[in-house]
Amino acid sequence: MSTITLLAIETSCDETALAVVRGNGLAIEVLASALASQVDIHAATGGVVPEVAAREHVAVMRPLLQKVLEESGVEPNKLDAIAVTAGPGLPPALAVGVTAARTLAYTWDKPLVPVHHIEGHIYSALLQSAENSKLKFQISNSQKLFPALALIVSGGHTLLIRMTDQCAYNVIGSTRDDAAGEAFDKVARMLGLPYPGGARLSAIAQQGNPTAYAFPRPMVREKNLDMSFSGLKTAVYYTLRELSQEQRTALQADVAASFEQAVVDTLVSKTAAALEAYPTRLLLLAGGVAANDKLRAGLKSLAAQQGIQLRQAPLALCTDNAVMIGLAGVYAYRAGRLLTWKDVDSHARLDITTLAQAPVEEVVGP
Ligand code: KG4
Ligand code: ZN
Repeated sequence: MSTITLLAIETSCDETALAVVRGNGLAIEVLASALASQVDIHAATGGVVPEVAAREHVAVMRPLLQKVLEESGVEPNKLDAIAVTAGPGLPPALAVGVTAARTLAYTWDKPLVPVHHIEGHIYSALLQSAENSKLKFQISNSQKLFPALALIVSGGHTLLIRMTDQCAYNVIGSTRDDAAGEAFDKVARMLGLPYPGGARLSAIAQQGNPTAYAFPRPMVREKNLDMSFSGLKTAVYYTLRELSQEQRTALQADVAASFEQAVVDTLVSKTAAALEAYPTRLLLLAGGVAANDKLRAGLKSLAAQQGIQLRQAPLALCTDNAVMIGLAGVYAYRAGRLLTWKDVDSHARLDITTLAQAPVEEVVGP
């Protein structure tokens, strides 16, 4: 099985990330990884301003590129291809990564592997850390993995995706309004926490009572796999509106814990419904909100009840990074998804099935 080496670039939102990965479809090694987060810059405006994000991506692209090339010891002429997040994401931000990738592909005469951002998140869970290493990953034979069901929960997406093979996806459920992470961030803001407040809200929730408030579990009784978090966010808003400033401070942890429980219950219940509807070998959890302890525990008990395997993205790979784009890129490359610098563009909206149309190569066990 041939080994390939990729440079991976991710700039879809507010993290500029580059990595060099090397893999053969069964084992993958991260040779170098670098990330510049813009969280502090966007905290001042309470959210990501796309043009500001793009300017920051431009500013750090060259030093990060130099860093991963030096750290990996890989000469550009030894790369097999460049993997880049082609979408979805913020248009000016995506354009920086894709333009950089196209320029390098032209200069170095290398093919490009366009990767869907969510594909990256999925692969961050699909691959298991090898020998407790944070830099080496392995994957089992496809027969043991698929069909798989991925719950992807981030600031921009809440999706249930069925995977029948490497790089073969089918979206079976999604949010109709806010993403789960977006709801976490908005409620965190209502509670006076700085952006992005998801992780802070969750830390405060540990001191609170998750049954203090009976917030809604949106759409859990409906017989479909769609979700909604906007009404839940509004329910929290109305609850807080009734409280004085002192009460808000005193009850902050209870509100946070009750909100978190409502999100987790909703996600677990929709995942359970998807497992009932589709035969599944493996359950995957990834995306920024996959760092949430309660959600990890909730899916763990669901998988145990159903007797199926579970893989959750390692904490270090839950939020956006380029390692996940490189990991997905290795499989996309093996599936024949190779384009020239002329043929890759960024797409703010991009269906996960659009890029994955090349024929899928079966991965054979060792
Ligand atoms: O995947 P990601 O880095 O960006 C997108 O692709 O959207 O996810 C970021 C999201 C933010 O909304 C953040 O608040 C949320 O993940 N998040 C959490 C936790 N850690 C990060 N939400 C709940 N609990 C956490 N522990
Ligand atoms: Zn993401």
